[in-house]
Amino acid sequence: MKITESDAIGSDLKDILSIEIQNQVALWSLNNFQESLTARDYFKVIKLNNETVAFIIAKVMSFECEIVNLGVKISMRKKKLASQLLNNLIDFSKANSIKQIFLEVRVSNIAAINLYDKFNFSEIGSRPNYYITEHGKEDALIMGVNL
Ligand SMILES: CC(C)(COP(=O)(O)OP(=O)(O)OC[C@H]1O[C@@H](n2cnc3c(N)ncnc32)[C@H](O)[C@@H]1OP(=O)(O)O)[C@@H](O)C(=O)NCCC(=O)NCCS
Repeated sequence: MKITESDAIGSDLKDILSIEIQNQVALWSLNNFQESLTARDYFKVIKLNNETVAFIIAKVMSFECEIVNLGVKISMRKKKLASQLLNNLIDFSKANSIKQIFLEVRVSNIAAINLYDKFNFSEIGSRPNYYITEHGKEDALIMGVNL
């Protein structure tokens, strides 16, 4: 079993889209992922042998960085893959003088909130009724960490 992390390339998008469809969280289209590649966002993947099993995408601005998507294939969860992606994003951010990393997460997404808690993110704001769900509306939490 060989696990590697690398920059995303076009041929990873098929696996990434199938993770995105399983996850039902951000619901990005293939086009959204292609735009991130074209925009040269921070876009990393973890591969198990030749299959892409996890990814992270962040928009890097002068002193800030926003995580805009993060996903792990269901059968590969709880193996610290998201933690590895976050650790490497934090190292990259520190090396590039980024002062804060932030993101938006659904209040019901306990797995993600626990993950960010572990990396010392805290709530820095909220957007009431931000997400439309099958059962009504849901708040977004904005979480951030200063580096
Ligand atoms: C959230 C997500 C990225 C976590 O990925 P992962 O690789 O399983 O996470 P890790 O193995 O690195 O877990 C690190 C910590 O996160 C928390 N965590 C992860 N999954 C959890 C779960 N199902 N329930 C509660 N806490 C969880 C735990 O604190 C965990 O530490 P522990 O293993 O010591 O308990 C993954 O569940 C996922 O892809 N979810 C759907 C997409 C999503 O929600 N993306 C984030 C949008 S903001």
